[in-house]
Amino acid sequence: MTYSTKDIPATGLPACWKSPSNIALIKYWGKLDGQIPANASLSITLGNAYTVTRVSASLHDTPGSGPEVEFRFEGEVNLSFSSRINTFLKSITGHFQYLPDVKLSIESGNSFPHSAGIASSASGMSALALCLCAIEAQLQGNETGTPGFYEKASSIARIGSGSACRSVYGGITVWGKHSDVPGSSDEYAVPLHFDPHPLFSGLRDTILIVDPDEKKVSSSVGHGLMKGHPFAASRFAQAAKNLSELLVALKSGNWQVFASLVENEALSLHAMMLASDPWFILMHPNTLLIINKIEEFRKQTGAKVCFTLDAGPNIHLLYPEEEANRVATLIESLKLYCFNEKVIEDSVGEGPKQLTCR
Ligand code: DP6
Repeated sequence: MTYSTKDIPATGLPACWKSPSNIALIKYWGKLDGQIPANASLSITLGNAYTVTRVSASLHDTPGSGPEVEFRFEGEVNLSFSSRINTFLKSITGHFQYLPDVKLSIESGNSFPHSAGIASSASGMSALALCLCAIEAQLQGNETGTPGFYEKASSIARIGSGSACRSVYGGITVWGKHSDVPGSSDEYAVPLHFDPHPLFSGLRDTILIVDPDEKKVSSSVGHGLMKGHPFAASRFAQAAKNLSELLVALKSGNWQVFASLVENEALSLHAMMLASDPWFILMHPNTLLIINKIEEFRKQTGAKVCFTLDAGPNIHLLYPEEEANRVATLIESLKLYCFNEKVIEDSVGEGPKQLTCR
């Protein structure tokens, strides 16, 4: 649908969204040109770790030559984030008729500290994509929050960062075409097509911060290492099979199967990096120590608790709400092996929210 940017008020068209981070249970690791994933992935959207982004679009002095961007992160000019956002906006200009005609003022901030070891690209890119789509919806006179709105926001977020496309929905989401997931697409994520077993409805994620430093390998380098990787084909097949089996476990509430698949995915992700050329060891000695402690605790108590890892050393401890008391003792004993005893409490969240712009 075409629309005119001439009607943009002098004060600008604002949009403000809060969007969460997510943690993958079936990992996206390896991609094709155009941000197309080599395999389908599945994640839970978090609740407490989120980005709030406010965008205001005003008419450019020379319409057609934009977008011009002014970006502030937590009130400060941030050159490295600005350059990533400029590259992103250039790559998506063709998807929004209004972008060449506007100046964008973007302000963003996270609910979690930069040194928390939480990837901010998923929450940041999804919040920005939602704002850009909300401005378009205003110009078109459309509602935000329709299924088509989220589909486009997810697809735009994907261009910024693959995993970000899974953050536009709450609960459990799937990105990448998979025969067991109706409507699934390589271009955008979809919410899980069934209600998971109640065991998973309040799933907790306690993030054990072993090392808060920046990632040793950027995601783009990591994905690139899967090109020509000797185990690439079997890894992509394994992910597809793990996703099929995880769907069954999510439906039936089979914790044992859930836990073994989730841990297999985390360790397979790290195994790919160990076997890459050049290789990367992204775990910290304490990561291994904690994994062994989790395994011991589980054997002793039979508690429903398991772990997953991102492309880094920090551990996401996953457990159902009903296990919270028992797992609290495990967490206390593991703090010793964390950086400054740091842990972040999170759980499956409801997804992005549009905020009133101030
Ligand atoms: C290990 O989404 O950060 O977290 O598309 O290059 O931005 P880009 O990569 P990114 O990769 C995430 C990798 C992962 C697994 C996952 O989230 O599925």
